[in-house]
Amino acid sequence: MRLIVGLSGASGIIYGIRLLEVLQDLGIETDLVMTGMAHEMVEIETSWKTDDVLALATCCHDNADFTSVLASGGYRNRGMVVLPCSMKTVAGIACGFADNLLLRAADCTLKERRTLVLVPRETPLNRIQLKNMLTLAEAGAVILPAAPGFYHRPREIGDLVDHVVGKVLDIFGIDHHLTRRWKGHS
Ligand SMILES: Cc1cc2nc3c(=O)[nH]c(=O)nc-3n(C[C@H](O)[C@H](O)[C@H](O)COP(=O)(O)O)c2cc1C
Repeated sequence: MRLIVGLSGASGIIYGIRLLEVLQDLGIETDLVMTGMAHEMVEIETSWKTDDVLALATCCHDNADFTSVLASGGYRNRGMVVLPCSMKTVAGIACGFADNLLLRAADCTLKERRTLVLVPRETPLNRIQLKNMLTLAEAGAVILPAAPGFYHRPREIGDLVDHVVGKVLDIFGIDHHLTRRWKGHS
C-alpha cells in the first residue's frame, strides 16, 4: 500500500506529522507533498525541524514540481490524505485549479476514483467554504474535519491528535490501536 500525504498551511500541522509517524511505523509507504505554508506551520506550531518531518516519508515531492509522478493519474497508489487541509486548498481542489503539485495530486486522485480524504481545520465556516466542501463530497472526497471526539477520555493533546489520525486510517481500512473504540455504555 502506498499513500499520498499532503500537508497544507492550516493550523494543526501536528495531525499530519503524526499520520506520517504512524504510517512509517506500520510500514506503509508514503509520498509527501507540503505547501509553503505547511513548512511555515511546522515552525510556528511545533518544535519539529522540517527535515525531520520530511524524513518520515518514503518519498518527498516539491510542491512546484509538476514533473513529479504525483502529477499523473497513472501513478499507482491507494489514495491521498490532505491533513490538515486549509480552506485555500479546499477551494483549489473544489474548482480544479491545480496550480501546485498537492492540488494536482488531489485532482488526479478524484479523477481516477481513488480515495481522497480531506481534513479541514477552520472555524467558523462561511458559506463559500461550506459549499466548496459540499462540492468535494459530491465529487467523492471524504470530508473528515479535524474534530476529535472526547468519549475515549483523552488525557493529553496526543490523545486528541491520535483520535483524528485513527479516523483517517479507518477510511483506508488500516488496522491500528491509536484510540479506544466505543464499545457501548454499560
Ligand atoms: C498562524 C496561522 C494559522 C492559520 N490557520 C488556518 C486554518 O486553521 N485554516 C485555514 O484554512 N487557513 C489557515 N491559515 C491560512 C493559510 O495558511 C493560508 O490560507 C494559506 O494561503 C494556505 O495555503 P496552502 O493551502 O497552500 O497551504 C493560517 C495561517 C496562519 C499564519
